[in-house]
Order: sequence, then C-alpha cells, then structure tokens
Amino acid sequence: MNYDVKDIKLAKEGALRIEWANQNMPVLNRIQKRFAKEKPLKGIRIGACLHVTTETASLMKTLKAGGATVALCASNPLSTQDDAAASLAKHDKIPVYAIKGENHKTYYAHINAILDAKPHFTMDDGADLVSVLHTKRKDLLADVRGGTEETTTGIIRLRSMAADGVLKYPIIAVNDAQTKHFFDNRYGTGQSTIDGIIRATNRLLAGSYFVVCGYGWCGRGVAMRARGLGANVIVTEVDPLPALEAVMDGFTVMTIRKAARIGDFFCTLTGDINVIRKEHFTIMKDGAIVANSGHFNVELDLDGLQKIAKSRRIIRTFVEEFTLKDGRRINILGEGRLINLAAAEGHPSSVMDMSFANQALSIEYMVKLKKPLDKDVYPVPEKIDKMIAKEKLTAMGMTIDRLTAEQKKYLASWEMGT
Ligand SMILES: NC(=O)c1ccc[n+]([C@@H]2O[C@H](COP(=O)([O-])OP(=O)(O)OC[C@H]3O[C@@H](n4cnc5c(N)ncnc54)[C@H](O)[C@@H]3O)[C@@H](O)[C@H]2O)c1
Repeated sequence: MNYDVKDIKLAKEGALRIEWANQNMPVLNRIQKRFAKEKPLKGIRIGACLHVTTETASLMKTLKAGGATVALCASNPLSTQDDAAASLAKHDKIPVYAIKGENHKTYYAHINAILDAKPHFTMDDGADLVSVLHTKRKDLLADVRGGTEETTTGIIRLRSMAADGVLKYPIIAVNDAQTKHFFDNRYGTGQSTIDGIIRATNRLLAGSYFVVCGYGWCGRGVAMRARGLGANVIVTEVDPLPALEAVMDGFTVMTIRKAARIGDFFCTLTGDINVIRKEHFTIMKDGAIVANSGHFNVELDLDGLQKIAKSRRIIRTFVEEFTLKDGRRINILGEGRLINLAAAEGHPSSVMDMSFANQALSIEYMVKLKKPLDKDVYPVPEKIDKMIAKEKLTAMGMTIDRLTAEQKKYLASWEMGT
C-alpha cells in the first residue's frame, strides 16, 4: 500500500489522539458498529479530500468498517495532523496522502494520488477534488457514481458547476444539513477559531476590539465566543439581513474601512475574496492581528499587504509580521489559511460527530439508491438529519417531549382559532 505522510513513527501518538477524539463521537460510533455488521459499502471505492484530523480518522475507519476501500488526502495544505495521518496509514492500512505544510505541487499530487484509486464516490471539503476530476482527470468520471461536500465554499462551487451544466455526477451537500452547519459551522468554528488565534498569539481578548467579517453561520459563532472572552465585537457584512441580525444580537456593525482603524483582532469568515485589502491594511493600528477562518486563503489580500510592506518576518510560529513603511506592524496568522486548523486542531470531536455521521449516512444513502440521482446538488435527506439530531440528544442523555394526539391534530388543522 502506498502513502505519503510526514513521519510514520508518529502513528503511536496519532492512535492515542484518535482514541481521545473518538470518545466524543457517539453517533458515528453507532454507525460504525452497524456498518461493521451490515457492510453496506462493500465493494465501494471512496476518494476523500478532507482536513486530515483525528475526527476524520474516525470517519475513515467507519467507512472502512462498512466495507469500503478508502483513500484520503488533505483538503488544505496546512490542516493536516501528521500523527493522525501516520496512524491511519500504519494501523488502519488506509492510503493517506497528506503532510502539514505541503506545497501547492504536492497538494495537487496528493489529490491525483486519490483519483488514481478510481473512486466510485468522492468526499470533498472545498471541491478541489471534484474540480481536478472535472478538469484534468475527466477520463475517470465514468466510474464516479456520486459525491458529498462538507463545506459552504464547496457547495457554492458545486452549485455553480451544476448551473453551468458541467457537473457530471450527483453531490449531496452535507454542509447544508441542519445537524451540520447549525453546530459545526457555528459552535465548532466559533470555539476552534478563537482557540487558533489564542494558540498562535497568546494575546488577551478581554477589552480588545475584535472585528468579525461575515455574520453567517461561522461568523456568528466566532462573534459569540469572542464576546464571551470579553472582547468588544465589531461585525462587517455585505448583506443587510445578517447585518441586522448582528445589530440585534448586540454587536456593532460598520464597514471594513471604518473597522480597520479600530480593530486589534480581525477574522474573516465570508467565503469571499479580498475582504480585507491593501487600503484596509494601510490604516490599521500598529500590532493589528489578522486571521482568516473561511475555507480558502483568498479572503485576505496578502499580495496587497506585501506591496505596502518594507519587510516581513516570522516572529512566532503561525505569526508573520509585516512592517509597513512608517514602522507599523501588521501580523498575519497561519499564512491567511483557516486559522482553526492551521494553529489549533479544528473543530472539537463532538460537532464533527454529527458532520461525519451525515457524511457516512449520505454515502450509504447514495449506494443504496435503486435509481441514481441526476447530476445536481442535493440536500441530505431530512430523515437522516433528524435521526442524527435524535441520536446525538440520546447520547447526551437528554430526552424531549412527544406530541400528544391532540397536539398533532391541532398542529395539522386550521379550523381552531380564537
Ligand atoms: N474554519 C472552518 O473550520 C470552517 C468551517 C465551516 C465553514 N468554513 C468556511 O467559512 C466560510 C463561511 O462559511 P459560513 O457557513 O459561515 O457561510 P455563510 O454563507 O453562512 O456566511 C458568509 C457570510 O459572509 C458574508 N460576506 C460575504 N462577503 C462579504 C464581505 N466582503 N464582507 C463581509 N461579509 C461578507 C455573507 O453575506 C454571509 O452572511 C466558508 O468559506 C466556509 O467554507 C470554515
């Protein structure tokens, strides 16, 4: 079996950390037990391009338990946990191609290595795997039956492929499941992004001005947690609705041009390009700390910053200090890549439990379909979403009320009024 990991000797440490993460993934564990018995994925080849973390390791083991042949590469050059990658290769005999800090060429060589295994299903996070398959490896498309997509940015790319009529197989939008983005994007990104910023800088958030760009699911989570640590949170938006929501949630909303002069910390979570640009870096305070937690490293205009800087140096792991001509310093965290995975460990396993339960069950759903779906982007079936929520609550020891017969009737009727 081939693999490309940083150091296979890290496998022992990785196995322990995978075990630790797995302790908080009860829903996925139940699926894994059932898969091991029923083997619903027997004979199926899955090519996965995901953040290679301890939680992803649990998903890979689950798919393998279900009878699938799995190959895994990284969905971001900086998000790989090298010990988890080594453990999967050594102990689970899963071909893993992922090295933290891999360059652009290696990143794509690793994606191609996954495609060489001729997957029947793709499991993507950001749609890079799907994109390579549809542009450079079209010869393999005939074998592909379907795929899943983990994140908002990937779904945007896939919907645009479907709209242009170029998407060649059906994809399930795992990100859009309620048991995914309500929890993973909000509470997962909220906690882990703050964790990444703190691990990278060890700076105090209390009393600081913390600018959150984008008040979507991820931005809400980060704003909520930054406030919890005592920061004065400022939100920037381009859509009046989430902007209004931020105001009513008690945050100050202003343009990035205005916020740029005030912020001590900045974090982009928009899925958009060049959200913080040269003209904003130019007016930032000395020592400003700037991070991104959106999927791609395009949210910060680092080329523009380079143009106005007279020097740059790595001052601390994951902190690059750019000094402007007048001596002001701007600190960029984790090369502008998603900071929760670059400088911390990504989402806590408890939320990945639900995201990856959606992944595993969506693949099983597609495998079992009698008639294949059309070449489009589909939601996770509601039945799966609800079942995951129910199982998560049960695992947390919570029970909820059931509708009485009278309530069911009332909620389905229109006759009863004042
Ligand atoms: N770091 C992680 O682990 C992680 C986890 C989940 C999602 N993501 C990524 O985070 C990004 C955001 O995801 P989401 O689910 O919150 O998306 P979302 O669509 O819910 O929210 C994005 C928000 O950004 C706003 N926006 C767009 N352009 C903007 C601009 N120029 N300035 C200010 N606001 C702008 C939009 O109006 C929207 O409200 C995506 O790239 C997604 O893939 C990262």
